Amino acid sequence: MKQRSKEYYELMKRRRSVRDFSKRPVPVEIIKHAIRTAGTAPNGANLQPWHFAVVQSADIKKRIREAAEEEEKAFYNDRAPDEWLDKLAPLGTDEHKPFLETAPYLIAVFAQSYGVDKHGKKQKHYYVKESVGIACGFLISALHNAGLATLTHTPSPMGFLNDILNRPSYERPFLLLVTGYPSDEAKVPLITKKSMSSLATFH
Ligand SMILES: Cc1cc2nc3c(=O)[nH]c(=O)nc-3n(C[C@H](O)[C@H](O)[C@H](O)COP(=O)(O)O)c2cc1C
Repeated sequence: MKQRSKEYYELMKRRRSVRDFSKRPVPVEIIKHAIRTAGTAPNGANLQPWHFAVVQSADIKKRIREAAEEEEKAFYNDRAPDEWLDKLAPLGTDEHKPFLETAPYLIAVFAQSYGVDKHGKKQKHYYVKESVGIACGFLISALHNAGLATLTHTPSPMGFLNDILNRPSYERPFLLLVTGYPSDEAKVPLITKKSMSSLATFH
């Protein structure tokens, strides 16, 4: 068990957010297995308040890129407070999102604020954000384990995803997971992670 826990840590510490993707195709079975893994996540009252919309179509990816870049332009040029921009500067991000067209998959994760049963009656969901956040963690780790890179992308606001992907208004876009292989030139920013002494306390 000690060995397995260490090996899992060694695997996961190699995950990094990638912002430069290759066009190299990825078998859809890998994406399906990763989504099935996400679907095993613990969640409030087992109501599974999530939906994963997988985009492969070049046309839909183009529409998502255009809409995301419009929001991101407003974010970087007007909406974002200076303090936030200062924090983003070392990551080198800006309003240009070519990876939204180059990556073979965009997985749009939706959080269902409530469900609708077969009689059309609303069903309250519990701990929606916590549940969907945990499912996204499972999804990211499953894709990483399969040898794929991801970028957790949150163009703000993301309401355009409901229109483009035809999702109902009770589903809120949670994040967009850009998925594929890194390009040969991909670089990641030099960052550090918290050390054990600030990461955890043992009582
Ligand atoms: C909820 C969330 C939203 C994020 N949104 C963006 C984003 O819109 N654009 C981006 O380039 N990175 C985004 N990131 C990626 C973070 O910048 C990245 O995870 C962080 O810098 C740590 O780097 P690492 O993932 O390589 O460890 C987001 C991450 C999370 C968890």
